Amino acid sequence: MLRTHTCGQLRRDHEGETVTLAGWVQNYRIHSNAVFIDLRDRYGVTQVVFRFESDEAAAASDLYHEAEKLRAEDVISATGVVTYRGEGVENPRLATGDIEVVASTFDVLNQTQQVPFRPWQEELPNEELRLRYRFLDLRREELQTAMRLRHDVCRVTRDYFNENQFLEIETPILGKSTPEGARDYLVPSRVHPGSFYALPQSPQIFKQILMVGGFDRYYQIARCFRDEDLRADRQPEFTQIDVEMSFVEMDDVLGMIDGLVARMMKEIRGEEIELPLPRLKYADVMEKYGTDKPDLRFDMPLVDVEEVAKDCDFNVFSGTIKSGGRVRGVNAKGAGNDERFSRRYLDKDLKDHVAEYGAKGLAYFKVADGKLDSSIAKRFTDDEQRRIVELMEGEEGDLLLFVADKPSVTSAALAALRNRLGKELELYDPNEMHTAWVVDFPLVTRNEEEDRWEAEHHMFCSINPEDTEYVESDPGRVRAASYDLVCNGYEAASGSIRIHDSKLQEQIFDLVGFSREEAESRFGFLLEALRYGAPPHGGIALGLDRWVMLFSGLDNIRDVIAFPKTQKASDLLSGAPGEVDKLQLRELYLESKAPKE
Ligand code: AMO
Ligand code: AMP
Repeated sequence: MLRTHTCGQLRRDHEGETVTLAGWVQNYRIHSNAVFIDLRDRYGVTQVVFRFESDEAAAASDLYHEAEKLRAEDVISATGVVTYRGEGVENPRLATGDIEVVASTFDVLNQTQQVPFRPWQEELPNEELRLRYRFLDLRREELQTAMRLRHDVCRVTRDYFNENQFLEIETPILGKSTPEGARDYLVPSRVHPGSFYALPQSPQIFKQILMVGGFDRYYQIARCFRDEDLRADRQPEFTQIDVEMSFVEMDDVLGMIDGLVARMMKEIRGEEIELPLPRLKYADVMEKYGTDKPDLRFDMPLVDVEEVAKDCDFNVFSGTIKSGGRVRGVNAKGAGNDERFSRRYLDKDLKDHVAEYGAKGLAYFKVADGKLDSSIAKRFTDDEQRRIVELMEGEEGDLLLFVADKPSVTSAALAALRNRLGKELELYDPNEMHTAWVVDFPLVTRNEEEDRWEAEHHMFCSINPEDTEYVESDPGRVRAASYDLVCNGYEAASGSIRIHDSKLQEQIFDLVGFSREEAESRFGFLLEALRYGAPPHGGIALGLDRWVMLFSGLDNIRDVIAFPKTQKASDLLSGAPGEVDKLQLRELYLESKAPKE
């Protein structure tokens, strides 16, 4: 080894030992008779110092002149004696701050080029530059911590499933199109001209086939690929903790994942959580929070005020009710007296925010003297005002905000508004993690534009046994045997009990208008497998990247992936995607017709 210790290891116990450290020059200070270097590696920072008897001795020393040539991020090793810094001159900000290494020699192991930014500089450059030089960015403490945490989440996951008799089995990356519903990434086949592999959107089909193959407990930390619109919590290439189990019912899968979440909370955060995790019904959650992935760290429910709105003089409200819409609102506790919530802010920033979700306006009132205060308050009678305050559980100084629109718009707009207000009003501890199940999703939802039923999860999802009789007569009423795990407003996992009965499967295909021919051509190999003794089975997939993001308290998934892609799915480090030469295309019988930029 080129070192005897790491840069995070030395303490007063090591006093007097001769050691060699190796790492990156984080900082250095050249004095007339001494050189100080903060040497950094993955484990920490240690101060290395070269002292000279006098300025003249320094000036005459080759070592001093070599040190003058150092640059930030050079890779060096240094040998010297561990020395107590002395009373009052310890550096409490460093774990190694009690000591320094009084060095006699150093070697430059590799000289760096001038770096475009320094990993520890306070003001970080823009993300584009950081992604372009990801190897420097990865040296930053935040990313070092995130990668460590990611490793820990994987380790705990493997420990947990291994202890529970699960087998980790890999499934193909080059495969056939899977049913998750995003666009596929395709890979052309050279051997089969004109044919393509699809990269898996998830191991869904293969894990079901593994159940038919008799491996009754499977897991995999699996890479998935989806060509979809990217957001802060979505990457085109991401990782799932993928799980499937045989001879189980929904409770068994939920119980198993409860155990995993508790184990992660314990080992990653040192927190004991209460099990079982809460189970909320989809319909209740949608009504109360307007979204199926509510942030449950704070309250602020959506409240329906139809009873007042329907007959009031304010046409925006009454008209909306008459045309089948809804008027719902939220109570931003105390925000009525918060100067950040100025009229301008409400009429511009917040209104624009809800407009992104289709809302045509945002009506708001301050609660003052038990009544409403705002430019539109006069359109409501005193009784109506009091009733609104009552319904909203308003107190002096609260700010009540309303959206009148078709039901889906009130949900989406107010859910987004609720998230924003919760954050701005600091209604929760950002370090807290609140996890809960959402169950009883509808099996299918109506696509009004195309006038047909669509699977809410995917077409292999089974149904709540109590609802069997409605599959044909009233499909909208059928509850799926599916479940989501939500954490702090994110969908952190999703799964279902699968259909193992080919009759029900065919019924579902018919329901969502999926022809037998299409089903056979796309998923024929699964349907066939299901006919050869498929055990009842079900499973789930957790979004690993999202969990690491949640554990890190970050809100950008790119910060927990070593080599992420941009919003436009580019890798700025390697330059992918890139052009390929004509020969490669010819071998694949392909020709590019991309428009020239
Ligand atoms: P689903 O498509 O809901 O289910 O995915 C499971 C979980 O994976 C995470 N996730 C993502 N994370 C980052 N970037 C993305 N683009 C992305 N897409 C999804 C989410 C999500 O909850 N085969 C089923 C699972 C099953 O039924 O067992 C599936 O893939 O956290
Ligand atoms: P108007 O009568 O259009 O001037 O609107 C009066 C107030 O009602 C304004 O503050 C609007 O933002 C608000 N408003 C308009 N349309 C809606 C709507 N659909 N839902 C909630 N508030 C609205």
